[in-house]
Amino acid sequence: MTNESLANKIKRLKKERNAIILAHYYQNDEVQAVADYTGDSLGLSRKAANAKEDVIVFCGVDFMAESAAILSPQKTVLLPERNAGCPMADMVDVEGLRELKKKHPKAKVVCYVNSSAAVKAESDICCTSSNAVDIVNNIEAEQIIFTPDQNLGDYVSKRTDKEVILWEGFCITHHRVRAADIEKVSKIHTNTPIVVHPECRPEVVEKADFVGSTAQILEFARNSKDEKLIIGTEMGILYKLKEESPPKTFYLLSQGLICQNMKMTSLEDVASALEEMKYQISVEEEVRVKAKKALGRMLELNN
Ligand code: 13P
Ligand code: SF4
Repeated sequence: MTNESLANKIKRLKKERNAIILAHYYQNDEVQAVADYTGDSLGLSRKAANAKEDVIVFCGVDFMAESAAILSPQKTVLLPERNAGCPMADMVDVEGLRELKKKHPKAKVVCYVNSSAAVKAESDICCTSSNAVDIVNNIEAEQIIFTPDQNLGDYVSKRTDKEVILWEGFCITHHRVRAADIEKVSKIHTNTPIVVHPECRPEVVEKADFVGSTAQILEFARNSKDEKLIIGTEMGILYKLKEESPPKTFYLLSQGLICQNMKMTSLEDVASALEEMKYQISVEEEVRVKAKKALGRMLELNN
């Protein structure tokens, strides 16, 4: 089937199922093209919490669909590719987190949404890359356990007076970028601003001209007077960057900026998800209720 006929099939099935398709900016271009809403993790959580449709098809990775199921348990949440996970989310486990909490009884746990429902349930509040600094600065505690992203945690620790205890997780995609990549690219594209995601290593973040979540990078690009930008986040963002800012030229900071998990979902998978109502994501009620508190506090604070 061509992409066009698959897109038509998806459109028809979406109506029949009363479904909404949500996609992260890192998804394949053709998947972003059929989505009703594309966004960063924060935007997608908000959309999932307020969706009016009966079915949410989540084109992203498992923790994102899980968050939708936590926030909207009355809806059917579908993850089109069952194996799309996030290696960083798998770097933190409940037992380890409990141990760390025991060592720091006064600390509050701020948990990046890139984590399992069970880890969220063990945390005081969630954050995303676009609100992590605000969340840490606004939570009532002087000591913070930040999990699982050590790079985002380091970025936050430099923007707060609080003590931030870091979990040693990282995004395998953004962690691949090295300071040497910045030096190399800046020699080729002189006087071109470098924008990076805070999941990058501290030495990369330090050398960048702008640091932000995917939505913040898109906003920066829209408002920038520069004709050319060097982009330090997953390559899927180029689809939206080109759509929103067509006259500008974007260069990828490193060829390693590709997340295999985000690229697993195809148009065929989206069509099959709607046709066969698979793969349904749900969270055990006791865990869900606790995890919802942490996610809900984030959404409240953000408002
Ligand atoms: P944001 O969507 O918050 O920019 O996070 C990027 C990411 O790595 C999602 O997996
Ligand atoms: Fe996980 Fe990184 Fe892929 Fe996002 S880009 S899903 S954090 S591995």
